[in-house]
Amino acid sequence: MQRSRVKDILNRERAGGEVLVQGWVKTRRSSGAVSFVQISDGSTLKDLQIVVEQSSPHYALIESLNTGCSVSVTGELVESQGRSQKYEVNAREVELLGGADPEEYPLQKKRHTLEFLREIAHLRPRTNTFGAMARVRNGVAYAIHTFFQERGFQYIQTPMITASDAEGAGSMFRVTTLDLQDPPRQGSGAVDAAADFFGRPTYLTVSGQLEAEIFALALSGVYTFGPTFRAENSNTSRHLAEFWMVEPEVAFCDLDGLAELAEDFLKYVFSYALDKCAEDLAFFNQWYDKSAIATLEGIINSDFERLTYAEAVRLLEGSGETFEFPVGWGLDLQSEHERYLTEKRVGKPVVVTDYPKDIKAFYMRMNDDGETVRAMDVLAPRIGEIIGGSQREEREDILRERMKLAGLDADNYWWYLDLRRYGTVPHAGFGLGFERTVQFATGMQNIRDVIPFPRTPRNVEF
Ligand code: 4AD
Ligand code: MG
Repeated sequence: MQRSRVKDILNRERAGGEVLVQGWVKTRRSSGAVSFVQISDGSTLKDLQIVVEQSSPHYALIESLNTGCSVSVTGELVESQGRSQKYEVNAREVELLGGADPEEYPLQKKRHTLEFLREIAHLRPRTNTFGAMARVRNGVAYAIHTFFQERGFQYIQTPMITASDAEGAGSMFRVTTLDLQDPPRQGSGAVDAAADFFGRPTYLTVSGQLEAEIFALALSGVYTFGPTFRAENSNTSRHLAEFWMVEPEVAFCDLDGLAELAEDFLKYVFSYALDKCAEDLAFFNQWYDKSAIATLEGIINSDFERLTYAEAVRLLEGSGETFEFPVGWGLDLQSEHERYLTEKRVGKPVVVTDYPKDIKAFYMRMNDDGETVRAMDVLAPRIGEIIGGSQREEREDILRERMKLAGLDADNYWWYLDLRRYGTVPHAGFGLGFERTVQFATGMQNIRDVIPFPRTPRNVEF
């Protein structure tokens, strides 16, 4: 007999017929001469209730089941007597597949803290919260691909190992096969990178952007969706050392076109999630953030606000708020400033553009004022920066100048400069933090709870 998923069973038009279900026991209780077992197979937030009467030959086995056991059950699907579910299964055959000692199994029928669950990341997918999380991540990822595919963007895969710093910010993890106890050295005593695997220093990439630009300047519209790595020692609720980024790159596009794309994109992804992940989002809304769904609906129905950096700074200076970090033209916006703008001042997402060149990456297009660049950050309530992007500097001479000022060796970026020598065009792109997007959709406070296995400073278990 073919196994049915709990989700499909609960979606059936009517009860009746035999079903085979397999899953993990959430809870079991006895009432009178009947035992009730709730089982889950992760296909939906809902459990399926299995009912076994005392007269059944399986009753003793059922009584021995506890939270965490895996079981295989066949029986008849009937209308449930209880109020909390539509159907239940009158068990005919029950087989215990794997036990879970109740003295040892760490997940018991009570609310565990998120901190505790991080310590058992190999078991937390079995909780309601992390089952819902996995399904929302899946739904959001699918929506991202669908959005770009429907608009004719090509999905490209960019390398994870690289010799160039795409952001020029120096926060890269080194990749090496050298023996760290006894590395080969040059005469000067310095480690000889020429003897390393690639014959030169290599790193895990911080962004696929530079390679995405190569493909955009051939295929017009492309996007990446993959892991990126940042060796920043930031222990915050919004930073991971390994996170997933979505990076569209568009030829023949300026910053206005890019801001429009970003707005359409976020609205599409959140509409999709509200529609296709409704049950799981309702769960997060109930247990984690009572305003999560209303915030998502607000975003879908609002026109994003546009502010230049200079206007944003003026608003912050005149706000009368006390901030931890200073505000002033030339200083980067901190998360408290971003949140003030989007949450208190505007009450919807804000696209901040035209930042001072000295606080942004070398590849951003210089404005005519010689002071600011065509950068864009999309700020969202509760999260702050969710998207960072820019129009790219397509003029070779100006790009060279910017690289020099950033202390980058133009020889290492010869191919990036070639793109400006041969058939250069205006182009623009952005990066969306996938985990920040899932954080936003679910209302989860900590980014460690929206990725299966978070990597943060001093934390790499599982
Ligand atoms: O603003 P970032 O650093 O931009 C880039 O890397 C560009 N190359 C993107 C591009 O234009 N193609 O990062 C983009 C987004 C941020 O807005 C944020 O949502 C997310 O990536 N992000 C992080 N998410 C989790 N942990 C971190 N440490 C992150 N750093 C950035
Ligand atoms: Mg940024």
